[in-house]
Amino acid sequence: MYKTQIIDLQEKFEMGIEKAAQLILRGEVVAFPTETVYGLGANALKPEAVSMIYAAKGRPGDNPLIVHISNRKQAFGLAHVTQEAEMLMDAFWPGPLTIVLSKRENVPYEVTAGLQTVAIRMPDHDAALALIDRCGVPIAAPSANRSGRPSPTTAQHVLEDFDRKIPLILDGGETVLGVESTVIAFDPRPVILRPGCITAEMIAEVLGEVELGPYLLSPAKASQTVQSPGVKYRHYAPKAHATVVCGEVAQIVQKTNEAYKMYEIQQKKCIILCSIQTSIFYAEKNCAIMGDRNSPTDFCQNLYKALRDADHLDVDEILIESLPTSDQGLAYMNRALRAASFETI
Ligand code: TXA
Ligand code: MG
Repeated sequence: MYKTQIIDLQEKFEMGIEKAAQLILRGEVVAFPTETVYGLGANALKPEAVSMIYAAKGRPGDNPLIVHISNRKQAFGLAHVTQEAEMLMDAFWPGPLTIVLSKRENVPYEVTAGLQTVAIRMPDHDAALALIDRCGVPIAAPSANRSGRPSPTTAQHVLEDFDRKIPLILDGGETVLGVESTVIAFDPRPVILRPGCITAEMIAEVLGEVELGPYLLSPAKASQTVQSPGVKYRHYAPKAHATVVCGEVAQIVQKTNEAYKMYEIQQKKCIILCSIQTSIFYAEKNCAIMGDRNSPTDFCQNLYKALRDADHLDVDEILIESLPTSDQGLAYMNRALRAASFETI
């Protein structure tokens, strides 16, 4: 048991980084902000420290972690970096792109969950980069949520899941992007294992081609061997029951209103996660506006927060509006569908 300390980086940047680095170098686990979501970090080269991440999260042992670095040289020390990978690094690092590469011997199997590959990313965030620099070692970090819960976009979200379980949370305010990094692997051709704010369209411009992994918008069976073990687990789930409402805008509005009415008759408390454009059709209904339908990045930024807020309102049902799956819409729909355990109407 710890007394979990929160350090506000806006007030005490240097002190926060120093304290976090001391803890990480001692083999402890610390939460820190990135541009995507908060991470739960430990020394990636220390197997016992990495094991503590799995224990704290309740994470299945076959789901590997991402190794965070602050300079390109570290990537060469951890993995066999290909030319294509370097093109992606040139285009998107630092940033929300995780690259899966063949690992070198020094990367512990605790980090890769026994795989011969390692996932690496350089976050585009001052505090994350300063922390990795100060530690002088790469930092293994999954999202700082209990396994299965929505990823944290604020320090408060991290505290909800890890109060007394970790010694320190660095508070960098609300994260800018709100969904986790894009994960890309080479099979040997490039394939997106998890969509994020670096889109397939953006990657195709650099590499000329990229495939979409098979389970981005549909469930993988628990027994299936998958390239990115993370995809087979229930994910990003609020406590309430959630449903994604699909179709053209007019259909979405109609189905949402019908479902809401049905829940009311059943005396269930419901909330609609909707757009600015559609919110006007839900007069008198309980809504959370996620943003402009033409800006999927708004929806990415607000989804996890909206799911956690819904839990605080103690709703029974969450109706989540769908978006087209182009650009960042794919990342949004990937998370929304998982939050709803792929239940759609
Ligand atoms: O934005 C992010 O990526 C955040 C922040 C903290 O950096 N981190 C994050 O980590 O989302 P996590 O552990 O929640 O998700 C890591 C994903 C999982 O889907 C995992 O299966 C996949 O990356 N992954 C990690 N190593 C892999 C590998 N060697 N091969 C294939 N997939 C891998
Ligand atoms: Mg995660």
